[in-house]
Amino acid sequence: MPHVPSSDAARARAIKRHVWPARQRFVATCALGVEPLLTDELRTLDGVEAIVTRPGGALFEAPFDTLYAALLRLRLAESLRVSLVTSAAASSFPMLFDQLTRARWALWLPRRCALTVRVVSRASRLRDREGLEHALRGALRQHGLDPDAAEAAPMTLHLRLESDRASVSLDLGGALYRRSGDKWVSRTTIRETTAAALVTAALNHAADRAQARPDDAAAARASAAPDLVFDPFCGSGTLLAEALELELGLAPGRRRQPPFAASPAWRQERFRHALRQHASVPDAAPRARHLGSDADAETITIARRNLGAAGLAQHVQLEVARAQALDFAALKRAHAAERPLLLSNPPYGRAATAIGAPPDELLRDVLSHAHGWRFALLFPDPDALARHARIEVERRLPVVTGGLRIALVLGSVRG
Ligand SMILES: C[S@@+](CC[C@H](N)C(=O)[O-])C[C@H]1O[C@@H](n2cnc3c(N)ncnc32)[C@H](O)[C@@H]1O
Repeated sequence: MPHVPSSDAARARAIKRHVWPARQRFVATCALGVEPLLTDELRTLDGVEAIVTRPGGALFEAPFDTLYAALLRLRLAESLRVSLVTSAAASSFPMLFDQLTRARWALWLPRRCALTVRVVSRASRLRDREGLEHALRGALRQHGLDPDAAEAAPMTLHLRLESDRASVSLDLGGALYRRSGDKWVSRTTIRETTAAALVTAALNHAADRAQARPDDAAAARASAAPDLVFDPFCGSGTLLAEALELELGLAPGRRRQPPFAASPAWRQERFRHALRQHASVPDAAPRARHLGSDADAETITIARRNLGAAGLAQHVQLEVARAQALDFAALKRAHAAERPLLLSNPPYGRAATAIGAPPDELLRDVLSHAHGWRFALLFPDPDALARHARIEVERRLPVVTGGLRIALVLGSVRG
């Protein structure tokens, strides 16, 4: 018989007893190629153990309360889920249904919700997606839940069959790659998680190079961060916002209410506590100067709005400019910069609007004038850049984001 609490009070007692004190298994997903950076980020959360990295994400264990900090602080995770059924034998529908009815659904899902079920089946006898979803919805009904209440809170369950074993996880945060629902976007706007991956990779790379020097490693690391960050193809401002948020230590989840807030297991006071701990806006100004430009005036208006909505406008200088016309030496001088970083997602591909030249040529031309600058770019073809004698590509990390194959390209322009 399924474990179904007889009343709200009984359910609250069961949650207190079985959910909150227990260590939970979580699944965080990320863009392919970003897994090592995500793993480093997970290690910074309290109580995280047993991290297992797999393509496109990581599994880990942590106390229940860690989910509040995770929802607020993870920059690289595209989704965060809690596992409710793990690797249960399911080679036939009766077996699957029996396994699914054992989970304590009523402790995790509201009595009524608008449920979306995402099904993946690999190397398994049960492949009929509709049948699999039907079995899961049926199991929930056995627990007194109504998963088809269209006007109720949205919830998402992921049902995965792998080699005849079923796992089910509940989505906690929705689309974490969208930091807020009201961001103004353009056709080429990148995911905030991808922007965060590029910024993180750039900072790690600078620190690695500094530590490789024979002098005092700690001091070298501390002084490796850029003192000028410039995006000459800034579009809607995603990269500048991520660079600033990271430098100021702002929690990326501070502006969203997670779908899991509709769960009976959610504790609003714990979330508020985590918000106070992790999401307070520091008064300090960033150490680095942040500048952005774009050839398209309307795009700069969008960037201004987005940075304003994120509370970051006062830290960024934006202007309309064609990248070919920029004087990088003068910018470096004007800001007395010793470690300037060109951080950008320039136009590329046939659909790109590269104003004034084909995308590869435009970028090569712009970079070749940035003597003494480091660069961190999202670009699909690092070899096209390396063809220029002044441009040194030092690292390339292939990633797949939103179905797009691209690379994080890190390097420097010889002086
Ligand atoms: C791939 S988009 C950048 C998207 C941005 N990362 C975002 O998330 O919104 C490239 C940008 O380069 C701009 N652009 C194209 N040619 C340019 C040029 N010659 N100089 C400056 N900006 C240019 C386009 O207007 C576009 O906004």
